[in-house]
Amino acid sequence: MKELGFFDGEFINLDETKVSLEDRGYQFGDGIYEAAKVYNGKCFALDRHLERCIRSLRELQIPVTYTNDELTAIHEDIIAKSQINDGVIYFQITRGTAPRTHFFPDKVVPHLSMTIRPSLVHEDWQTSGIQTLWAEDIRWLRCDIKTINLLGNVLAKQKAHAKGFHEAIQFRKDTNLVTEGSSSNFFIVKDDIIWTHPLNNLILKGITRSILLEECAPQLGLTVVEKAFTPEFAAGADEAFVTSTSLEVTPVISISGKKIGHGVPGKITKQLLAAYKALVKADCYR
Ligand code: PDD
Repeated sequence: MKELGFFDGEFINLDETKVSLEDRGYQFGDGIYEAAKVYNGKCFALDRHLERCIRSLRELQIPVTYTNDELTAIHEDIIAKSQINDGVIYFQITRGTAPRTHFFPDKVVPHLSMTIRPSLVHEDWQTSGIQTLWAEDIRWLRCDIKTINLLGNVLAKQKAHAKGFHEAIQFRKDTNLVTEGSSSNFFIVKDDIIWTHPLNNLILKGITRSILLEECAPQLGLTVVEKAFTPEFAAGADEAFVTSTSLEVTPVISISGKKIGHGVPGKITKQLLAAYKALVKADCYR
């Protein structure tokens, strides 16, 4: 088992330098990324990740220079070569290398890079729930694009981390509406109804969020309302949870020191987590 990298068609060690000083990803954050989870040597929901990756590229007018079949094969190859059965594949495409100009340079060829590292799901967090912190959402207005420009997210996460919290739950100051976590989508449950921010420019269309809404909630006969709510409304929720590729469905038991419900993982959250784990099992452990 070995952590491994990939750059423009070549498998490399993680400490090998391949990126030019004038890569636009490096200088402008001009690129997109995906992070996919590997369970039992198989990449979960890869088709959904590739679909979102192509959308992000098109939104940024970065040319698509790989087919989905090629991208799938590269994901399979890096898993096989690394022999990592449980891990995360980080995948990034930047606009390419050119002398620094703000406008798009001519004839620039995108760079594809990837890493694979072992990682396990934090089952302890799923069992006991995580404590979180409110943070003002200071990000740009295209949070629907999964760009490598993550400073707003990084500052929010660091604010939480520095105070010993696992995640920051962001809200927009102008509207006083909750958007999402710094690296996760956010949900509450009130009177057996699941609430989450609607899909628009202010949040990322999380793969885990989509799977929950399209597959897990309908399976369980649960109603989801995609409607924005205030931090005050969230504080009065019965349950709360975050979703992401690495967190799956993780209960939130407090925000900024205030307990959600009874301050323990909620019943509906646990049902959704179990339904999500069953889907992973059906897909990756056949
Ligand atoms: N982040 N919202 C934001 C801002 C995110 O960064 C992420 C994921 C999500 C959840 O998306 P998904 O379910 O597709 O993982 C929502 C990844 C894990 C990361 O940055 O590492």
